[in-house]
Amino acid sequence: MEKILITGGAGFIGSHVVRLFVNKYPHYQIYNLDKLTYAGNLENLKDVENKPNYHFIKGDIVDTNFINQLFEKHQFDAVIHLAAESHVDRSIHAPMDFIYTNIVGTANLLNAAKNIWAENMEGHRFYHISTDEVYGSLGNEGVFVETTPYSPHSPYSASKASSDHLVRAYHDTFGMPNVISNCSNNYGPNQFPEKLIPLFINNILHKKPLPVYGKGLNVRDWLYVEDHAKAIDTIFHNGKSGETYNVGGNNEWANIDLIKKLIEIVDEQLGNPQGTSLSLITYVKDRAGHDLRYAIDATKLRTTLGWEPTIKFAEGFYLTVKWYLNNQEWLQHVTSGDYQKYYEEMYANR
Ligand code: NAD
Ligand code: DAU
Repeated sequence: MEKILITGGAGFIGSHVVRLFVNKYPHYQIYNLDKLTYAGNLENLKDVENKPNYHFIKGDIVDTNFINQLFEKHQFDAVIHLAAESHVDRSIHAPMDFIYTNIVGTANLLNAAKNIWAENMEGHRFYHISTDEVYGSLGNEGVFVETTPYSPHSPYSASKASSDHLVRAYHDTFGMPNVISNCSNNYGPNQFPEKLIPLFINNILHKKPLPVYGKGLNVRDWLYVEDHAKAIDTIFHNGKSGETYNVGGNNEWANIDLIKKLIEIVDEQLGNPQGTSLSLITYVKDRAGHDLRYAIDATKLRTTLGWEPTIKFAEGFYLTVKWYLNNQEWLQHVTSGDYQKYYEEMYANR
């Protein structure tokens, strides 16, 4: 495989995947297709932008003609599809963006790839990056396995579930070499500060309230983003067509415990007396349809392809806080303009 299209490469996870592929596989030509929405930022890729095997294309996966022409022109050998609207709260606010990008956009990519690979699907790969949220919510017990029935609750997770179904249907119907992975919550550098961890770091820096939804008892399973990128590398090269792989950190935290740990590390790194920022915790109205608990069983990926997380949570969390504190200019850039308006609207009535 020589020409690989990575969609959403300017976003949080996509930028880590692009960096890993550009550096690790100099013989691959990596094409990063991204619309550069509020969540996409080419600053995330400054260190690889001049590499000879890296190419950036600005474009919208929802634009059918554009996507068809792009595939005709470049004849990509493989696709790693990360582009998406990814924030649950925004999907409650404005669901249609999620329907277009996550469902129609994925269908456009599948059709375009099917068309150029029609004569011979051998040696190609269409890899769709999805989420554990498609499985719905767990109670206090149990874990998600690859065969857990889908039960999405938000427009975001329903749109990702729809796209997963399309990817499977194109494998079963047209024999496309498709593979899917469903991952738990990622954390690390370059995550847009609308998501819990970077939002709270940014708010602590500005001494703003930390809006904890409901009682803060919802549980998420956190994985360091570079470990997810390594899982994507493994599955892209060794995953079996038609299969799904769960990816997770085996690292569950109730939100309120994670938030207290975060406050402890931020205060320590800022040189504040311990507990200074605890007073910023503010319990607010719960997210509509808020899933109680996610937990991934990644046994299949570990036993069949040999992937395991390499970064311990204590280390990854510390590195993450340090990165945001050292990159406050990045935080300022991405939160200026439109984001301010979004923040005011989103949190005004909570
Ligand atoms: P992100 O929001 O940080 O980045 C998404 C990227 O997609 C941005 O660069 C954006 O500009 C681009 N994009 C959006 N709409 C587009 C369009 N119409 N055409 C082209 N580009 C477009 O998202 P992320 O957190 O990096 O997530 C990446 C993928 O991984 C998503 O598919 C998401 O569902 C999945 N995922 C995320 C997590 C997580 O914890 N963040 C966990 C599991 C799975
Ligand atoms: O599980 C994988 C998913 O993880 C990905 O598919 C999504 O793209 C990604 O955004 C993430 O979804 P979550 O909804 O779990 O992430 P978020 O950071 O928005 O919220 C994490 C938890 O924190 C969740 O229980 C809601 C809560 N929360 C979030 C925000 C933004 C708060 O209590 N207050 C907040 O202000």
